[in-house]
Amino acid sequence: MREKLEALLAAAVTELSQVGTEEGLQELRVKYLGKKGELTAVMKGLGALSPEERPIIGQVVNTVKGELEVKIDSAALQIREAKKAEKLRAERIDVTLPGRRQPIGTRHPITLVIEEITAIFAGLGFTVAEGPEIEHDFYNFEALNFPKDHPARDMQDTFFISDTILLRTHTSPVQIRTMLEQEPPVRIIAPGTVYRCDSDATHSPMFHQIEGLMVDKGITFGDLKGILTIFINQLFGQGTGVRLRPSFFPFTEPSAEVDIACVICNGKGCRVCKNTGWLEILGAGMVDPEVYRHVNYDSEIYSGFAFGMGIERIAMLKYGISDMRLLFENDLRFLKQF
Ligand code: DAH
Repeated sequence: MREKLEALLAAAVTELSQVGTEEGLQELRVKYLGKKGELTAVMKGLGALSPEERPIIGQVVNTVKGELEVKIDSAALQIREAKKAEKLRAERIDVTLPGRRQPIGTRHPITLVIEEITAIFAGLGFTVAEGPEIEHDFYNFEALNFPKDHPARDMQDTFFISDTILLRTHTSPVQIRTMLEQEPPVRIIAPGTVYRCDSDATHSPMFHQIEGLMVDKGITFGDLKGILTIFINQLFGQGTGVRLRPSFFPFTEPSAEVDIACVICNGKGCRVCKNTGWLEILGAGMVDPEVYRHVNYDSEIYSGFAFGMGIERIAMLKYGISDMRLLFENDLRFLKQF
């Protein structure tokens, strides 16, 4: 009996040395120490022994059982430690490696121009106003004194959503919204996205404008010219030539178009300025009394001027971009240059 037990222990120890996993260990534990295990079977046989032998063999059984338990436990511990060490090795982080850099984006040239123009007008006391891109006919046309049959209302230019709702075709409706909301003095600029049904190398169906409006007592055309000259000199450089030409807009009277001396040829004449030496950059004028009537301002007391310009055109002139579509293709090789 004793030999049998020792052989059992020896067999178990041999097997143990070949087990490398926790599952394998568990199988071994069941095989020897489980309810139907080999050692348990031997213990069941103790009853058949003589009363003298029983305590002696019983002690041997207990010793063998104890030894086997200790050996299995320590093997389990070893396996767990080895597993942990392997995991630590695999997940090891070299803190001395340089980090992975996140590429830094650049601001879009349109955004850059809007920010620059906004900053110039902020310096002249203008604050930023906003309005919706989906606009009511009243703000986009009616209150700006566009007669019902004015060609700008034609389907060719305007994206209509319904008879009275449309995508704003300019930022001028922000003038109306601002004046309906506050009494003079008013001194705002309104940058934003506008839409027109037009698309080629110099027109995009979605583009950007900045509107300006200044209304107070005693504002004159001289103020308009002064503010715009300061603005142009800051944006395109001191001494940039400025020229005002008479023009027409339904919401201003008198109206003017403002040209700057060509930034490419300095006024000598080139392809960009079509040999005129001048580039048109904005529309402007004194707010028409008809507009004041729509916003309940007394045109006997107040006067003011408005202006509006296309951002894409200014960005193209400032950065020498020849095709407007480049601005909206989102090609990083292009956008990274600004
Ligand atoms: N809204 C005009 C356009 O989109 C531009 C403009 C002209 C705005 C004269 C003005 C202005 O405020 O006074 O063509």
